[in-house]
Amino acid sequence: MGLRVGVVGATGAVGRNMVEVLESSGVDISEFRLFASERSAGQEIPFRGTTVRVEVLTEEAMREGFDYLLFSAGADVSRRYAPIAAEVGTTVIDNSSAFRMVSEIPLVVPEVNGKLLKGYSGIIANPNCSTIQMVLALYRVHDRYQLHEIFVSTYQAVSGAGYKAVREYENQLNGENTHNVFPRQIAHNVIPLIGDLRDDISQEEWKMINETRKILNSNSISVFPTTVRVPVRIGHSESVIARTLFPIMSKDDLIETIASGEDVIVHDDIITPLEIAGDDYTHVSRIRLFDAHTFGMWVVADNLRVGAATNAVRILKLHYQLNSKTTENAGAVERVESI
Ligand SMILES: NC(=O)c1ccc[n+]([C@@H]2O[C@H](COP(=O)([O-])OP(=O)(O)OC[C@H]3O[C@@H](n4cnc5c(N)ncnc54)[C@H](OP(=O)(O)O)[C@@H]3O)[C@@H](O)[C@H]2O)c1
Repeated sequence: MGLRVGVVGATGAVGRNMVEVLESSGVDISEFRLFASERSAGQEIPFRGTTVRVEVLTEEAMREGFDYLLFSAGADVSRRYAPIAAEVGTTVIDNSSAFRMVSEIPLVVPEVNGKLLKGYSGIIANPNCSTIQMVLALYRVHDRYQLHEIFVSTYQAVSGAGYKAVREYENQLNGENTHNVFPRQIAHNVIPLIGDLRDDISQEEWKMINETRKILNSNSISVFPTTVRVPVRIGHSESVIARTLFPIMSKDDLIETIASGEDVIVHDDIITPLEIAGDDYTHVSRIRLFDAHTFGMWVVADNLRVGAATNAVRILKLHYQLNSKTTENAGAVERVESI
């Protein structure tokens, strides 16, 4: 018996990737439902040789009960509908910022803190895209040498702001010079502000500060981010400088430690977003050991997949593996191949 799975926000930049990642995930799905607003209701989205019609999101539909619902329709939608779904026993994997900093709700990057999923039911939060790729590149260094300061500058793709942002960027490439989604023109430009400012720090920067500490389970890590939008369609890049409490043995050891991270690939040559768009790995290059406690690296990942859809599907798979008990379910787990 397969799983009953739905995607809320299925027509969005992330939602479409969730459908794609689920399609090739090997997850045994017996019923697959897609939800969006009235704007997109009736659209048909291909899935595993058939097409699924997009439905209008309603409270009634959320009360029907699913095994898993993946939410990616923004924080307001999650706040309103996710608790209704969770109340009837559905495991909700929420991609928005709505519940990430709620202390009882796990904020999960499966490779890093997936153990939190064992025995848990309810809403699970998917972290911010920039945070996911950064902690994947750093978590093994933290395990071995204990991080205490992280200085990060991001170079974030336009698709990170949703499908309307991509449209605005494309229109500007075609000569239009108006902007609504971004605070300045993004084509041929860079914008050092993502989200509103609070105490001089942008929303995106607060997310990186708070979420990194929650995922790595350490309030003693100081994170100093500058988040920047760049005219790249897909793939966030990050320049990370980090300091450790314990001395790093050697550059070779540092490289080995970073590369031991699950779903992390270290490159000798430089790596750029254009080369990795569409894949499911976090890519690290330009590793530099400045002194025994300070190193730098360049981290690149597909924001729509690693930073959102793939992480959500990895949460689904791990949650299922850790919590399904029946023999029948155990068989289904064995059929689930890794993404
Ligand atoms: N883009 C990224 O790289 C990224 C990464 C990590 C997390 N996130 C988070 O993921 C969420 C979605 O981001 P996105 O970039 O995919 O946005 P998006 O491209 O703007 O897509 C939004 C989706 O939500 C649906 N939606 C909007 N209002 C709705 C409503 N009232 N009822 C039902 N559905 C509604 C839209 O449906 P319509 O087609 O009907 O408008 C669309 O399917 C956001 O919370 C974002 O912060 C995004």
